[in-house]
Amino acid sequence: KRDSSFGGLKDEHVKYFKELLGAESAVIDGLSQDATEDLEPFNSDWMRKYRGHAKVVLKPKSTEQVSKILKYCNDNRLAVVPQGGNTGLVGGSVPVFDEIVINLQRMNNIRSFDEVSGVLVADAGVILEVADNFLAEKNHIFPLDLGAKGSCQIGGNVATNAGGLRLLRYGSLHGNVLGIEAVLPDGTVMNDLSKLRKNNTGYDLKQLFIGGEGTIGIITGISIFCPQRSQAQNVAYFGLESFEKVQQAFVEAKNQLSEILSAFELMDGRSQRLLSIVKESKLPIEGEHPFYCLIETSGSNTDHDGEKLEKFLEYVMEQEIVSDGVLAQDKTQINELWACREGVPETLSHWGGVYKYDLSIPIKELYTLVDDTREKLTKAGLVGDDDSYPVVDVVGYGHMGDSNLHLNIPTRRFDKAVEKELEPFVYEWVAKRNGSISAEHGLGIAKKDFIGYSRTETMIKLMKQIKDLYDPNGIMNPYKYI
Ligand code: FAD
Ligand code: MLT
Ligand code: ZN
Repeated sequence: KRDSSFGGLKDEHVKYFKELLGAESAVIDGLSQDATEDLEPFNSDWMRKYRGHAKVVLKPKSTEQVSKILKYCNDNRLAVVPQGGNTGLVGGSVPVFDEIVINLQRMNNIRSFDEVSGVLVADAGVILEVADNFLAEKNHIFPLDLGAKGSCQIGGNVATNAGGLRLLRYGSLHGNVLGIEAVLPDGTVMNDLSKLRKNNTGYDLKQLFIGGEGTIGIITGISIFCPQRSQAQNVAYFGLESFEKVQQAFVEAKNQLSEILSAFELMDGRSQRLLSIVKESKLPIEGEHPFYCLIETSGSNTDHDGEKLEKFLEYVMEQEIVSDGVLAQDKTQINELWACREGVPETLSHWGGVYKYDLSIPIKELYTLVDDTREKLTKAGLVGDDDSYPVVDVVGYGHMGDSNLHLNIPTRRFDKAVEKELEPFVYEWVAKRNGSISAEHGLGIAKKDFIGYSRTETMIKLMKQIKDLYDPNGIMNPYKYI
């Protein structure tokens, strides 16, 4: 239900926004002005599961404009949704009712880069891939990479505390983000754009914004520690018989590849089968394997790293840990192998809807949940090959190196009967093993009712106190997890 304490949009508000931003930065529908741009892309999420009804999308160009917008919204009790690239997977980036969308896409400047320390300072609206390409020219790398890099923004990445494909190597944004510039709901600019790696002076307040999902303020700039880009990249893709063997391969990879290991990703056979159907292409290795893994190494010497990886692959095949495998021979092949992993999320949306669960699970039992869920849905008569069944399949993939499973249920339509089988079953299963119901995507609206499976009442109460302190009128991203 819409919170009636929030004001409705009036002509005078529209006038204020237009004067502040200029017509082209205030996309407005249905009031005195016709829409200058289609609002639909700002109102619906990547999964097409959540849809809001914002009549206004604001695209500020500066921190000062963000500050003025938020102060005005706060004074007039107008609810807002911060939005980056709108690639989030928990419905957090779109309005629920008529909240005003504040999209950061026009704040897209790189502010500075220090080639000695590797510290990048940039606007929140810079696209992740743009930031990484900029850094590549300077022999550095953004310490985060993910399939949505072409659309997501670094501010959105920080707001979700995205994990991605190389967390195993570069660690979490909680460690790499050195500073944040953010605007609080009352217009206060919190300038904490520190470039220091070490700064133990009281509470580290920026951490609240990392993974805060736009509930206490808008991130307008970040400073981040970027490592040296590795000269050499090697990638292997292989098939395995069981999850037991996947674990053995992971241990062996850590042993043999240690400091050059930069990714260890898992895809089950079902996710790869669906990928090859949707992409109408053959997988890189012959045969059908219950599990596939992708290993990447990043080091300083291609030949030396390649040799190590080759030796590793020989060993695991000799030991019958791995059934079959392939080593990329050039950059094109590296991209082809990565596409088998990065293409999975898009593939799974192919049939219509997909139920997505992003979970941290103790590694030994990581895949058991996929089997248990498949069994439950199959017993309920919901899984099948023809259109009369809602569920296409039950698949698992994810970041093996981080014990992070993505349990996905691609469906032909979103269906209450399917949802009833899945929730709270999945959350109870994870809570029983002391896992997390959100490893890297956040809670948004999708998981707002389930936070109690991963956090105690005391923790939730403390979070609410923080929310009230920063956002007493509750205008920031309302109806979401807090
Ligand atoms: P949005 O989707 O626009 O917003 C996400 C949340 O952050 C919302 O709550 C929004 O209100 C808030 N927000 C956005 N910008 C700001 C800001 N400037 N200030 C305050 N709040 C803000 N995630 C992973 O962790 N690992 C992955 O490997 C991964 N792969 C993905 C692959 C694909 C194909 C897709 C579609 C998504 C993937 N994601 C992954 C999800 C991930 O959360 C997002 O891709 C990304 O981090 C969100 O950035 P965005 O700019 O699109 O933010
Ligand atoms: C991934 O690892 O591919 C992303 O987190 C997206 C997803 O979970 O589908
Ligand atoms: Zn992921």
